[in-house]
Amino acid sequence: MFIKHGLLPLVSLLCYTGARAYVWPGPYDLLEDEYTVSTVLGDFIEPCSAPVLPGIRLAAAEWLRTAYHDMATHNVSTGLGGLDASIGFETDRPQNIGSAMNDSLNFFVSLQSRTSSMSDIIALAAVLVVKSCGGPGIPYRPGRIDATEAGPATVPEPQQDLATHISMFASQGFNVTEMIGLVACGHTIGGVHQVDFPFTIENSITDSNPDGIVHFDDTFATFDNHIASQWISGQSVDPIAVGFNATTNSDARIFAADGNATMSGFASNPDHFQSQCGSLFERMVNTVPNSVHLADVLEPLPVKPHRLSLAVTDGSLVLAGQIRIFSTSAEAAAASPDDMPVTLRWTDRNGKTNATYAASLTADFPPTTSLWGSLYFFNAKIVLDAGLGISSFVIDYAFDPSSPLIHGDNGGGGFPLQDIAFFQSNQFCTNITTGDTSVTAMIRNDMGPIGDAYIEYTFGVSQPGTVVLRQVTVRTALTRVGNSSLPLYDEYTALLDLGGFPTITNIVTDLVAEIGQKTYTDVFTLSPGFC
Ligand code: HEM
Ligand SMILES: *[C@@H]1O[C@H](CO)[C@@H](O)[C@H](O)[C@H]1NC(C)=O
Ligand SMILES: *[C@@H]1O[C@H](CO)[C@@H](O)[C@H](O)[C@H]1NC(C)=O
Ligand SMILES: *[C@@H]1O[C@H](CO)[C@@H](O)[C@H](O)[C@H]1NC(C)=O
Ligand SMILES: *[C@@H]1O[C@H](CO)[C@@H](O)[C@H](O)[C@H]1NC(C)=O
Ligand SMILES: *[C@@H]1O[C@H](CO)[C@@H](O)[C@H](O)[C@H]1NC(C)=O
Ligand SMILES: *[C@@H]1O[C@H](CO)[C@@H](O)[C@H](O)[C@H]1NC(C)=O
Ligand SMILES: *[C@@H]1O[C@H](CO)[C@@H](O)[C@H](O)[C@H]1NC(C)=O
Ligand SMILES: *[C@@H]1O[C@H](CO)[C@@H](O)[C@H](O)[C@H]1NC(C)=O
Repeated sequence: MFIKHGLLPLVSLLCYTGARAYVWPGPYDLLEDEYTVSTVLGDFIEPCSAPVLPGIRLAAAEWLRTAYHDMATHNVSTGLGGLDASIGFETDRPQNIGSAMNDSLNFFVSLQSRTSSMSDIIALAAVLVVKSCGGPGIPYRPGRIDATEAGPATVPEPQQDLATHISMFASQGFNVTEMIGLVACGHTIGGVHQVDFPFTIENSITDSNPDGIVHFDDTFATFDNHIASQWISGQSVDPIAVGFNATTNSDARIFAADGNATMSGFASNPDHFQSQCGSLFERMVNTVPNSVHLADVLEPLPVKPHRLSLAVTDGSLVLAGQIRIFSTSAEAAAASPDDMPVTLRWTDRNGKTNATYAASLTADFPPTTSLWGSLYFFNAKIVLDAGLGISSFVIDYAFDPSSPLIHGDNGGGGFPLQDIAFFQSNQFCTNITTGDTSVTAMIRNDMGPIGDAYIEYTFGVSQPGTVVLRQVTVRTALTRVGNSSLPLYDEYTALLDLGGFPTITNIVTDLVAEIGQKTYTDVFTLSPGFC
């Protein structure tokens, strides 16, 4: 595993406007980053066999099971329930036995924010798991909303009979063929733990297997059709198919529910298994309450600013951070980032371009990986002429110095960046002595009277009975501190009231400044750090 880039803070300026192809900044930048770079989740599921310490449970298998158990509260007749993070309130039910549900949520909670609901993270984790384990790429759509209470107790259990399972899956929106598919696709990784299913598994707890796991198939950390081929060839090792206790052999009843037709199809055709699992899991993660409307499919942006922000530093206006470049092309895979020409060209505050408004960026090492393609980061540290400023930029780049340049213009309009009112992101931190979290902002002082200047910040607070955080939004005024080190800018600050010492949660903060007749906004997401 290569070293991952810190996901946060990531900065984005100006309001998101409208429903074109996804551009930066957008409402799902944090999820897009985690989808593409997988900074937080990646290490735990790459490789697929990565264990949850200190046991030998696989994070990948736990996360996939968690996604199904959360979804399983959906009822097609009422349109209620689905993948909505209600699982957090349901962990003490026998049907969710084991440490998997809270383990998973505890992994995910550090990613929660105003723009990344727990349910979106559960779905994203399932998508990343399937890909990391060698399964299909599942289209990912964000926009899920977290439940505020438990759903019905409708997760299947192995001791229930086939008729019960058929009707439960029908209620969730899946017919018999699809039920067989979902169970086979789910049970291609991981296994059953004796500590949680003592009536199903015996004599499997040892020093090296403290939870007494028995795997579903011989390739328990690979998303492949062995669950089906072993079943059809009579060599299944699945403890809830061929286990000693016939009552809990639900996989056997389900796999044979159509006379083994679906399982035979999977066994004889690995590609068919992959494509069926892909479409079934896509439906699984998109099974949400009817009141929820998912956004368009999110895919890696080819060019995206990463932790890139303006700052007033030592008397200069500086644009610093990184540019992320992604591609699925063979040329990109073969690229050596040190040789890639990457130029940031900006437009000044008056909308003018100039050949001199350009800076070449240098490769950042070591390179990072993506499950979806090639990913390179380039460092920017550009001292701007504060009098001329900046309003947007583009990135011209190539994967090979001899190839024609690709124009990275963010869907046509360039990457917007306003320099009138912005967070001084390198001063957004929690004072280690006092515990106070404050933000600093810079606002131009020659643009007319400042009508209103405030921040609105959203952070997670714990709620009883679930690991999932509830998001709270607070507004507070920015107060002028005084001159900055640049005559054009004044420094402003605001103290955040996080109700005590901040948790590990991300804080999404909007800045709004009404200056003259115009409103300027900036948004900044940070995971608190100390200063
Ligand atoms: C009738 C339906 C189902 C029954 C009765 C059932 C039952 C079980 C049981 C008893 C376990 C063992 C859990 C443990 O010991 O930690 C398990 C594990 C698992 N199930 Fe299912 N399951 C069903 C459907 C599904 C579906 C549709 C999925 C799809 C995602 C799925 C995914 C998983 C995964 C990935 C594991 C492995 C967990 C681990 O290794 O930690 N299951 N299932
Ligand atoms: C789904 O909702 C219908 C209508 O309220 C109800 O009759 C049915 O029992 C529910 N299904 C499950 C599995 O709870
Ligand atoms: C379930 O639905 C799929 C897709 O619509 C269909 O191909 C399949 O035949 C159905 N199975 C049953 C048992 O109705
Ligand atoms: C089989 O499992 C059922 C349901 O958990 C349990 O009631 C029964 O005692 C088990 N039988 C044996 C032989 O362990
Ligand atoms: C389905 O496959 C299982 C396992 O190979 C086998 O025991 C069973 O007889 C098969 N059922 C049918 C109806 O073919
Ligand atoms: C571009 O910038 C240079 C140096 O600042 C300046 O001399 C030149 O006039 C500018 N060109 C245009 C077309 O504005
Ligand atoms: C999961 O965590 C929640 C919140 O802390 C807690 O109420 C619940 O009992 C935990 N569940 C399990 C199975 O430990
Ligand atoms: C702050 O800036 C204003 C205008 O640029 C200037 O008149 C004033 O002397 C400065 N104050 C300090 C304390 O530097
Ligand atoms: C933290 O707060 C203390 C006490 O108010 C103050 O002396 C110190 O300068 C602050 N540290 C930073 C980095 O702002």
